[in-house]
Amino acid sequence: MATKTKSKVAKPVRRASPPKARPVAKARKLSGEVYYPSKKVIEQARLKDWDKLAKSAKKDLRGFWEAEANELEWFGKWKKVLDDSKKPFYKWFTGAKVNIVHNAVDRHLKSYRKNKLALIWESEDGKDHRSFSYFGLNRQVVRMANVIKSMGVKKGDRVTIYMGRIPEIVFAMLACAKIGAIHSVVFGGFSVDSLAGRIEDSKSKLVITCDGSFQNGKIVQLKSIVDDSLKRCPAVENVIVVKRVGNEVNMETGRDHWYHELLETPIADGKCETVQMDAEDPLFILYTSGSTGKPKAILHTHGGYMVGTYSTLKYVFDIQDDDRWWCTADPGWITGHSYIVYGPMLNGATSFLFEGGPSYPEPNRWWQVIERYGITIFYTAPTAIRGLMRFGDSWPSKHDLSSLRLLGTVGEPINPEAWRWYHRVIGGEKLPIMDTWWQTETGAFMITPTPVVPLKPGSGTRPFFGQEAEIVDEQGKTVGDDTEGYLVLKNPWPAMLRTIYGDDERYVTQYWSKYPGKYTTGDSAKRDKDGYFWIIGRVDDVIKVSGHRLGTAEVESALVSHPAVAEAAAIGLPHEIKGQGIYTFVLLRAGKVASAELAEELRQHVATHIGPIARPEEVRFVDKLPKTRSGKIMRRVLKARAQGLPEGDISTLEE
Ligand code: WT7
Repeated sequence: MATKTKSKVAKPVRRASPPKARPVAKARKLSGEVYYPSKKVIEQARLKDWDKLAKSAKKDLRGFWEAEANELEWFGKWKKVLDDSKKPFYKWFTGAKVNIVHNAVDRHLKSYRKNKLALIWESEDGKDHRSFSYFGLNRQVVRMANVIKSMGVKKGDRVTIYMGRIPEIVFAMLACAKIGAIHSVVFGGFSVDSLAGRIEDSKSKLVITCDGSFQNGKIVQLKSIVDDSLKRCPAVENVIVVKRVGNEVNMETGRDHWYHELLETPIADGKCETVQMDAEDPLFILYTSGSTGKPKAILHTHGGYMVGTYSTLKYVFDIQDDDRWWCTADPGWITGHSYIVYGPMLNGATSFLFEGGPSYPEPNRWWQVIERYGITIFYTAPTAIRGLMRFGDSWPSKHDLSSLRLLGTVGEPINPEAWRWYHRVIGGEKLPIMDTWWQTETGAFMITPTPVVPLKPGSGTRPFFGQEAEIVDEQGKTVGDDTEGYLVLKNPWPAMLRTIYGDDERYVTQYWSKYPGKYTTGDSAKRDKDGYFWIIGRVDDVIKVSGHRLGTAEVESALVSHPAVAEAAAIGLPHEIKGQGIYTFVLLRAGKVASAELAEELRQHVATHIGPIARPEEVRFVDKLPKTRSGKIMRRVLKARAQGLPEGDISTLEE
């Protein structure tokens, strides 16, 4: 492994590690299955004394975050680090002027990082490679920004981005941020209903898309999904289309523009200023599923989100100048926003973007990529690990994975069996696994180890610096060790969501009302006597399918949009690979006959409307759904019945 070179840019001035570091490993005796960091890991880590920093951040939350913010560049300094006078509408770095792109791109052009690789990309078929230095990245972002500006997009306007995993999605996000527009990325695996709903809600005037994307060798017709969506969104004035797959697409004159043609016009060339934003100005919105109704637009800002993603990636994955970082997520989810694009680039790191999936054409695809590019830090989801584990050790063992120095996981609880396989086969029993718990809403890691923290398979260990978490009961009282309860967060943090875009009231009720003063996560969890947190899962009607967040309401409304369906209920049940799978119960309209064909048709219907990830495992026809007397479907009862478990309190059941 390469020796770590000292960064010339982000020198941690304030907290040089003490001469005699006391790693957390030595300080505590922990119970259960524990993996202590090796001497080598501790030697390499930039932060050796976890306890010391945790303690000082606990004592002085503002001081901790201020020091982090001081490692980045600001056009104008803040008056206050944290303004909590209107909580839960917290404000961070108030009065400061900044632009996240200045720190993620522009500032690197002044240092040796100008020629350092910012982004490496490989195509699904492995035949195409593109890479961009920070200098090259900046050129691409400037050109894209000029094109977007020429479409009349101004500071504060929303732009919907709906693309595959290609470098242009990164350019588009950064270009929007650079000119102060608010990006709203919609995952390229979503379909018409999901896309149309998000374009409409955000009132975007511009959509940036591709002609199509590749998925397991097949073409996903992104442009035609955009066309169908826009029939419902007449407010969209322009569509920029990046050519990726070269298929025949419909181009509407006046509305649709090929990106490569725009690049040839004088508009694209020339300079583009990075707009000075207020720290609290919106950077992006990202839709995510909640317990009821339509997906919510989670709003993040330039200043706080910047400091949060920068700092978490620096400490948790200990990102160094010679690292090659690979986060396998899609840029269309928060994981991709924070840890493919912003976090790595704020740290001046080299970020790898892969167009394909883990097992196409064969289950060694990811391991081949790690070897080919010398990836040093690898961050993925438990569902992918379980999926690949199924193919056995022989696939990874064909490849030299010795470049790796750290591993990570995110998205759902990792079962200890998958953890051990990841640790043994991919990590050679040497590499720490950073199990990072966080959410679209938190913007950045919240419960997570750093490399020097002893690990327990299946636990995200402890809250990140400056954060405190608690497990409470229905009434908000702290429960004892090893007792299941609701996970809440006690302190505000810079990368926290500021609101639900356009719905301040829902922001308050959803996150801050159940336990006043505390942030409700929607997860249940336990804490053990060592203070380690164990996430159990969602307590609301959110389903995590392969780590993707979907709402039962979305699946149900897709089902009832089918002419044969009168009523529908969706629940999540344990699934060996996906973590949770979607199971549905359907009540047919009078005169419609249940059949295996119809069940199949309904599954397909959901996939066509929401996206393939929402395809139910099963459609079961029923003649009654368990409901409360007020008519609410009792999904809890359906869940218990499906698993042969006790039905719990059914006093409100109508039957
Ligand atoms: C939900 C948030 C932001 C990361 C991607 C998902 C679950 C996330 C973990 C983890 C156990 C996890 C929670 C959370 N989750 N990470 N390491 N261990 N559960 O973001 O789509 O907003 O989903 O994902 O249930 O509430 P998201």
